[in-house]
Amino acid sequence: MEITGKTALVTGANRGLGRHLARELRDRGATVYAAARNPQSVDLAGVIPIALDVTDPASVAAAAAHTENVAILINNAGSSTGASLLTGDLADVRLELDTHFFGTLEVIRAFAPQLAAQRESAILNILSVLSWVSFPDSGAYCAAKSAEWSLTNALRQELAPQGTRVSGLHVGYMDTDMARHVSSAKSNPADIAKLAVDGIAAGDAEIIADDISRQVQAGLSSGVAGLYPQLA
Ligand SMILES: NC(=O)c1ccc[n+]([C@@H]2O[C@H](COP(=O)([O-])OP(=O)(O)OC[C@H]3O[C@@H](n4cnc5c(N)ncnc54)[C@H](OP(=O)(O)O)[C@@H]3O)[C@@H](O)[C@H]2O)c1
Repeated sequence: MEITGKTALVTGANRGLGRHLARELRDRGATVYAAARNPQSVDLAGVIPIALDVTDPASVAAAAAHTENVAILINNAGSSTGASLLTGDLADVRLELDTHFFGTLEVIRAFAPQLAAQRESAILNILSVLSWVSFPDSGAYCAAKSAEWSLTNALRQELAPQGTRVSGLHVGYMDTDMARHVSSAKSNPADIAKLAVDGIAAGDAEIIADDISRQVQAGLSSGVAGLYPQLA
């Protein structure tokens, strides 16, 4: 897919990976709607800030109504409450599902007609290595990313007839606010944004951005015993 000349919309574009994605698309010649809960927090030059809270259906509908010609949609907005499924606040568990699963779904539903009207169109959902493996201390986030992965697989089939390609990006820790507490190795989100846009351009259905994601994906065939050896 040619990026130059296309119109793109990135959710959560005011900071973190979303800001890098918006910049990368802008630098490759796309017109970019930088969607954010607070559009005044978008500090990137040369993009069009727009209000969009993925958990607010009215906000999603308004964003779809106030944009045109969107051919590339990147669902990047994400929460990370660190809620445990067993002991965490259920409101936090719901927030993870509302953001990653229902929010992404709501945005895709709202923008599907605009995407269908383009000669070629693409959706990229920012998933995680945690779509494939769960940690007890962030079980709610992992469940939400897993649900978003399943959504990605279903919708790529439903949207294929209208010519919209749907892909998912799997990545481990990146150096953003979300992983501020993490001391282990983190990817540079600018590098991940480049890989992501390369993947859209290449029409990849799945973008595996780092070694940990490749290892865990390969480990899926080994089942619970392979992924959770501590339970043996
Ligand atoms: N960082 C990692 O290690 C990592 C690893 C794998 C996958 N990911 C995924 O990568 C994506 C980007 O995360 P990040 O690392 O860039 O996180 P981040 O720095 O914490 O940024 C999160 C972004 O999402 C926005 N957001 C949160 N809730 C929203 C909502 N309801 N509506 C609209 N925007 C909302 C935030 O906006 P505000 O400024 O308004 O809060 C912010 O722009 C997420 O989907 C995340 O799950 C991250």
